[in-house]
Amino acid sequence: MKKLFCVAILWTALLSALGPTRVANAAQNKQLEVFSWWTSGGEAMALESLFQAYKNKYPGVEVLNAAVTGGGGSAARPVLQTRLAAGDPPDVWQVHPGHELFGQYVQGDYCVPVTVLYRSEGWDRVVPQGLIDRVSKGSEIYAVIAGVHRGNVLWYNKKVLEKYKIEVGDTLSFEQFFSAAQKLKAAGVVPLAMGDAGLWATAQLFENTLLGVLGPKGWQELFGGQRMFDDPRVKEAARLYGRMLDYQNADHSALSWDQAVRRVIHGKAAFTAMGDWAYSELVKAGLKESHNFGWVSFPGTEGTFLVVADGFTLAKDAPNIAEAVAWLEMVGSKEAQEAFNALKGSIPVRTDVDKGKLDIYQQWSMASFQHDALLASCVHGEAAPATFQRELNDAISMFVADRNVERFTGALVQAAGASGLLK
Ligand code: BGC
Repeated sequence: MKKLFCVAILWTALLSALGPTRVANAAQNKQLEVFSWWTSGGEAMALESLFQAYKNKYPGVEVLNAAVTGGGGSAARPVLQTRLAAGDPPDVWQVHPGHELFGQYVQGDYCVPVTVLYRSEGWDRVVPQGLIDRVSKGSEIYAVIAGVHRGNVLWYNKKVLEKYKIEVGDTLSFEQFFSAAQKLKAAGVVPLAMGDAGLWATAQLFENTLLGVLGPKGWQELFGGQRMFDDPRVKEAARLYGRMLDYQNADHSALSWDQAVRRVIHGKAAFTAMGDWAYSELVKAGLKESHNFGWVSFPGTEGTFLVVADGFTLAKDAPNIAEAVAWLEMVGSKEAQEAFNALKGSIPVRTDVDKGKLDIYQQWSMASFQHDALLASCVHGEAAPATFQRELNDAISMFVADRNVERFTGALVQAAGASGLLK
């Protein structure tokens, strides 16, 4: 009864926030707390563009940036969980669709649907249904998507490759990568810059290798529980991942993901494997796409788009509900989507954005999104429960040290069973 009463109050608040008084409510001496893990140079710059757009519209609202440093959100999520459990939610927070959104926040009753916004703002007409489905349960939608990253990209420094007469075409196979890497290593150049101070970065290298070996069908079978983690193809992917690791920088575990990207920016390494948030670091450093740097699908993954979507969800007991709703409306607007994604490296989710405003990389990524198989990332929360992700990180950290394929895949089988992924 009490719960029903609370939900009713919340809905009244949400609906009134959507009414004409909304702007007035969000006008004077108010605050809005936004939680994310966007703190690298490029990420912070993109987040700031959202803050600026919001402040321009609501100058009376003080925006509190509650970002917690650590790529991939592995440091941010525990902080958020502690706050949520203590009844101290930020108004809105960054979230990935799928398991992360539903397993950690919807199931815990920490956030409320924003379905009504999709109708009032007309997003249901301009956001592809496939994307809406990723943040929906039943008839309710639980997040406003700010942009969609492609997780399976290999970036390279063009000048370095030119110097060693290495050409990268429209696709790059594993063997082509290894032959280039061998040449670079022999010349004393680091072939693959990695920064796995946050384990997720090397887990992502494995995830991409796995996708490159399994292909879209195998990926869906694996994360749909129809293929086991000790499948011969998974073992093959583990061996290839081990070979990749042979070409990384010796100090990989001391660097963050963006420090690794900087190695490529400064020509200290040739390649880095990273989701396309790396793009914002490359551009922020003043590098010109296609001139100073290039990209290609991670080996074996051409024809697939590993989706890493970023959304914002609304706290159930948001301390500043009107301001929070105004934030979500702004994030979903055409202007904000165009400006934010140009800086972040992701693509806007709205189909009505001015594509002429997108740069070459984004046009490439958008074409891939339209034509390729769209798959959910495990490392970035969508394809598997958080418990599996944590076990994967532990298994990866062990594998990086011992390269024992049997032990590694055995640990993943156990983790899949224990986390409910096989159901
Ligand atoms: C997020 C990106 C972010 C990246 C690195 C991913 O999980 O979706 O927005 O830039 O982590 O921090």
